[in-house]
Amino acid sequence: MERRLIDTADGSKTLFIPAMDEQYHSVNGALTESNYVFLQQGYCAHPSASPAVFEVGFGTGLNALVTAMEANKSKRKTRFVSIEKYPVTPDEIQALDYGRLFSEEAIHLFQEIHAAEWNKEVTVSDHFSLLKIHADLTEYDFTEEQKFDVIYFDAFGPDKQPNMWQNDIFLKIYHACRQDAIFVTYSAKGEIRRKLAACGFSMERLPGPPGKRQMLRGINK
Ligand SMILES: C[S@@+](CC[C@H](N)C(=O)[O-])C[C@H]1O[C@@H](n2cnc3c(N)ncnc32)[C@H](O)[C@@H]1O
Repeated sequence: MERRLIDTADGSKTLFIPAMDEQYHSVNGALTESNYVFLQQGYCAHPSASPAVFEVGFGTGLNALVTAMEANKSKRKTRFVSIEKYPVTPDEIQALDYGRLFSEEAIHLFQEIHAAEWNKEVTVSDHFSLLKIHADLTEYDFTEEQKFDVIYFDAFGPDKQPNMWQNDIFLKIYHACRQDAIFVTYSAKGEIRRKLAACGFSMERLPGPPGKRQMLRGINK
């Protein structure tokens, strides 16, 4: 499927898929969305000193990058596991060039994150390990040992890819959550909130990132 590089409102780039009329991040700011929805309301909101994060949709690696930077800064030993069915290409990674938005350290981290072999846990820094799973989430089963503290649910929108926002998917993610795990997503749809609540998450609506009134957060209480 054709993908195009586009600019977003905060100066960071993202990918757009014309055939789906869908982009990888908010056009109101890719980096702003990633920082606010996933990093601040998810990762930073969890008290664990050594959290395990599971991301749905590795995509451009932007969420992985901002999390790795925060893990290094706060010296929080973080395990980051991300699943992706359609990896981006080396040309796209180079064009996105997210590390350059920050620092030399981030340029290096972004390269390491993308260079990491698929399906193999890799130590990216003293405080950040990465496992990129090349698989289809709809067919993926978690093992008993895989337990997570923070879930970044960053699939394409529920209107564009409804099969990713179904009860069976939410339920298998719920069962892979530790107690007090935090589930965050940019969607604020009532239907999604109800499905997540039915799985067992205590749901709340939070103010959304620029361009969105609200987002959803669930806790496994
Ligand atoms: C909204 S984008 C994710 C953005 C990403 N988190 C980032 O920081 O760039 C959704 C991602 O989910 C991936 N995806 C779509 N269907 C999938 C599936 N069935 N299993 C795993 N990943 C899937 C897409 O290829 C895309 O990379």
